[in-house]
Amino acid sequence: MVEVGIVVGEATPERIRFFTKDAVRVGEFVVADTEDGQVLYLVEASRLESKLLSRAGDYITATEAKEASKANPRDTVRYCVARAIGLVRGVLEGRRVYPTLPPEPGSPVFLAEDDLLRRIFHNDSREWAVVGRLLRREGVAVSVNLNKVASRHLAILAATGKGKSNLLALIAKRIAEKNGTMVVLDYHAEYGNLRVKKAKFINPRINPRRLDSEELAEMLEIRPDATKQREVLRRAYTKQVARSPNFWEALKENVQNIGEVDHQTRSTAERVLEIIDRGLATKGNIFDTEAESPLALIEPNRINVLDLSEFTETQAQIIVAHYLAEILNDRKNATLGRSARFRSPVVVAVEEAHTFLPQEKRSKCSDVLARIAREGRKFGVSLILVSQRPCKLDADVVSQMGSFAISGLTHPRDQSFVMEVTDEVSTELGASLPSLNTGEMILAGQWVTVPALVKVDLVEEKLLGKDLDAIGMWAEEAGMGRKAVSTEELIKL
Ligand SMILES: Nc1ncnc2c1ncn2[C@@H]1O[C@H](COP(=O)(O)OP(=O)(O)OP(=O)(O)O)[C@@H](O)[C@H]1O
Ligand SMILES: [Mg+2]
Repeated sequence: MVEVGIVVGEATPERIRFFTKDAVRVGEFVVADTEDGQVLYLVEASRLESKLLSRAGDYITATEAKEASKANPRDTVRYCVARAIGLVRGVLEGRRVYPTLPPEPGSPVFLAEDDLLRRIFHNDSREWAVVGRLLRREGVAVSVNLNKVASRHLAILAATGKGKSNLLALIAKRIAEKNGTMVVLDYHAEYGNLRVKKAKFINPRINPRRLDSEELAEMLEIRPDATKQREVLRRAYTKQVARSPNFWEALKENVQNIGEVDHQTRSTAERVLEIIDRGLATKGNIFDTEAESPLALIEPNRINVLDLSEFTETQAQIIVAHYLAEILNDRKNATLGRSARFRSPVVVAVEEAHTFLPQEKRSKCSDVLARIAREGRKFGVSLILVSQRPCKLDADVVSQMGSFAISGLTHPRDQSFVMEVTDEVSTELGASLPSLNTGEMILAGQWVTVPALVKVDLVEEKLLGKDLDAIGMWAEEAGMGRKAVSTEELIKL
């Protein structure tokens, strides 16, 4: 084993500080002996400090301090703060047992060997799947437990462009390899060309009979402040209409009748009729008055991508609410032994989760998402919430998430949010979040044996979401192709 440092200062069972000769990076794993046995530590902070230079109050003193520091190697101090992850023998068995004592001051700190880390992080039994490598050890593959994703929920919380959708696509690919059932709520039409095994692309359809009048008004795009129009629709949308074989004719007939009986509402009714016709002309294909259940479109053992990009925020929420309520219900039936479409667990992935599950107000699908977060485990429905603004997410629901993938959050409110919802992200580790590059994530919680900084694998099967090559595209459209253009040619243009 390579010795990298010496334990100094006040150590606790949870946290040690050690001086090092060479650089030891954040995310590195080290081991040290305690009376309880060998302990695995995760380096959460790595500092380099010159005592002379940090005391210099002006430029001239700093110049002199620089020379003095160069001449005196003792002046430059490298030290790390590392958090106890657990006793090595427990971690090797997949258990986290914390030490009760710190190492003695002066104990040597060793780099954890690749072999040990491989035994901890790589697991090729059935429920595990590889998602990347340890950030500081390229040779160590990291597996995650998909059973935990399918039962205890997962939150992917990272700044924009840090690789959330890539990780989600990778999870979808791994779930597909295991013949799992997944529903991806695709708000930005990003997964339309996901080339994973068994992907199914769905344009959601909804039976208007299953909507209440407010929801129907939303789907037809009657403005929220058009209270008179909404009132006419509410009055017209009777139980008979909902049961009528000719739903739209029956509804329009009632709207017309309301207009005729009451002269004041005639023009409102006419406007509502126009709105219904316009709605049917532009969005008619999403209404299916014959559809038994939204579930008919979603298939077990497949990655079902639900394209929500055509809808307004509220419409997407209504559709999500209906689909998810049906899925949860179906899984309840399955666990009670009744006939059901999904006889095995369903994983629901929610991109742009802050849109569907906002903190400050309830959305049309907040209730069902909260219900799945609370009760889903019993019935085999789990959530993967994906968001770049965690602090705008409903904190109660996020605190039900069992696993986390976190990266690159710069906003202090987002950072403190993730520290609140998972105790695996300490203040030190949280401070290193902004410096993580694309695809570098902290994986924590139940889906990993121990928390780790991981370089997630890039998924070639997902093409969209890549940053646009605007310059290349402009050049192509201008008929110049993508070849480099010389200055002379540019001047001629
Ligand atoms: N693990 C990775 N390794 C290398 N490149 C990656 C990785 N993950 C993502 N990328 C690249 O980074 C870019 C952004 O990735 P992605 O779309 O997954 O980010 P995002 O967090 O979902 O962004 P947004 O907030 O815009 O949805 C893509 O071009 C992708 O190819
Ligand atoms: Mg994304």
